[in-house]
Amino acid sequence: MKTIYLYLFPFILFVLLNCSTTQKVTNAPPIGVISDSALVVSAHPLASRVGVDILRQGGNAVDAAIAVQFALAVVYPTAGNIGGGGFMIVRTSEGNIDALDFREAAPGLSSRGMYLDPENEVIEKLSTRGHLAAGVPGSVDGMVKAHEKYGSIPWSQLLQPAIDLALGGFTLTEKEASGLNRNQEDFEKYNTVVPAFLMNDWQAGDSIRWLELGKTLERIRDQGRDGFYTGKTASDIVAEMNRGNGIITPGDLANYQSVWREPITGYYKGYKIISMSPPSSGGIALLQLLASVEDYNLKAYGHNTAKAIHLMTEAERRVYADRATHLGDPDFYAVPRDELLDPTYNRQRMASYDPSSATPSDSISAGNLYKEEREETTHFSIVDENKMAVSVTTTLNGGYGSKVVVAGSGFILNNEMDDFSIKPGFPNLYGLVGGDANAIEPKKRMLSSMTPTIVEKNGELFMVVGTPGGSTIITSVFQTLINVLEHNMGMQHAVSVPRVHHQWKPNVIFYEENGLSSRVIKELMEHGHELKARSPYGRVDGILILPGNLLEGGADPRGDDTALGY
Ligand code: DON
Repeated sequence: MKTIYLYLFPFILFVLLNCSTTQKVTNAPPIGVISDSALVVSAHPLASRVGVDILRQGGNAVDAAIAVQFALAVVYPTAGNIGGGGFMIVRTSEGNIDALDFREAAPGLSSRGMYLDPENEVIEKLSTRGHLAAGVPGSVDGMVKAHEKYGSIPWSQLLQPAIDLALGGFTLTEKEASGLNRNQEDFEKYNTVVPAFLMNDWQAGDSIRWLELGKTLERIRDQGRDGFYTGKTASDIVAEMNRGNGIITPGDLANYQSVWREPITGYYKGYKIISMSPPSSGGIALLQLLASVEDYNLKAYGHNTAKAIHLMTEAERRVYADRATHLGDPDFYAVPRDELLDPTYNRQRMASYDPSSATPSDSISAGNLYKEEREETTHFSIVDENKMAVSVTTTLNGGYGSKVVVAGSGFILNNEMDDFSIKPGFPNLYGLVGGDANAIEPKKRMLSSMTPTIVEKNGELFMVVGTPGGSTIITSVFQTLINVLEHNMGMQHAVSVPRVHHQWKPNVIFYEENGLSSRVIKELMEHGHELKARSPYGRVDGILILPGNLLEGGADPRGDDTALGY
């Protein structure tokens, strides 16, 4: 222990000196959980506990990630899931890297105009609520494939903690209780069989059980992928679709496959960045952003100064414009990956950058960024004793997804179809627009912003990071990297400090309430920017390797996120 503090002393001193100058949106301590062995950081204390238990039982980081994914489906139903999808980045102890795409796919009966009326107008909420909003879930197949390739302890051992939580019950946190209460009207409206077990006036501290979900998890434990994509679970999904005018068929389920892909990699000032490839836009956009600002001295500009925010905003404006046009499922659309990742291209895009004034985004308005939806996805970061690292972002899309609970199987279905461009230029839940590249086609995967990322320094593991937040995911990961790499923040400090976001359209800088000083806001307005305050967003959960090979967990204080280690 003594040696831990010896190594940490300069770090603690630096963080304490550094953090007194920044605006705050939370009261998190500036330094996170420190471990000299292994760490799990996830959105829920019980899920982090499950991950640590698996590591202690001899499981590796991928084993722990699988157990955490299933545990979150029980204790964090707003975003944790078996009825959704996601992405996993793996870095083995030997330094090999991998990317797993378990993103949902469009059902075979889907079509470009499926959310439009005869006048070609978007039918309100059809892509976000109810049965038609759901893509074919990928999470279970993803976990099976991850286990086949990297798992080191038996599959059943990874399912058991989630089963015990679902059948035995667990205590609701304040945030989860209010989330369930807030959604009761929607649960009632969009379900063909109202999930009676959810219809309660929930209080923090209440115990809740998910009995049908527990049984479904037992089927997955005993039958692997068949426990979900065929047999009772699949029949329940299809019966649910038939009752609610959905279109997912037995064939869609039986044929769903998650895919191992080559991660997106690139360098920022010598750090190797490893992130998710299409069908997520996250990795490409993150590397484009980093390339766009690499020639500037962000360190000298300082954290969240007008100068830094202006530069990062101008980069974001350009990169999100590219995202809207060029990115989609690579199995259906020829993504110009190399061109977008070319540092010269990104430098050229910044040639029109003016340090003193904002470039107006095209005058076509893309609508409101944050509509009525509470956005929910979830990220977890894990490093095991052998420095195998896993970065997973997984989602139902909106909070509690489509709000549809599959009767008989007890889990929530995603509303991921809204991540397609349902009509050219029509903004999705997060205000993102798109066109042909991300148009609906049967079996195609909808474009994502999820950005699970791993960073190497001098060929060694350095950081594991990611977050929910819809369109803000990319800029939150971008800022977290800049906070550490340029502003020398530790992990907890880097995830806690206020965030700022621009996504090309709408032409507005969003900042967290109380996150920027009035002087910075005034300076940005003088540069020609429009600014809007919004409620805190993102739940960045990361792990940083400190000197002396210690691990620091950064758990986002905006949620119930928890770092646990040993
Ligand atoms: O894949 C995407 O980009 C979105 N479906 C993610 C949604 C999300 O992050 C919501 N979370 N807060």
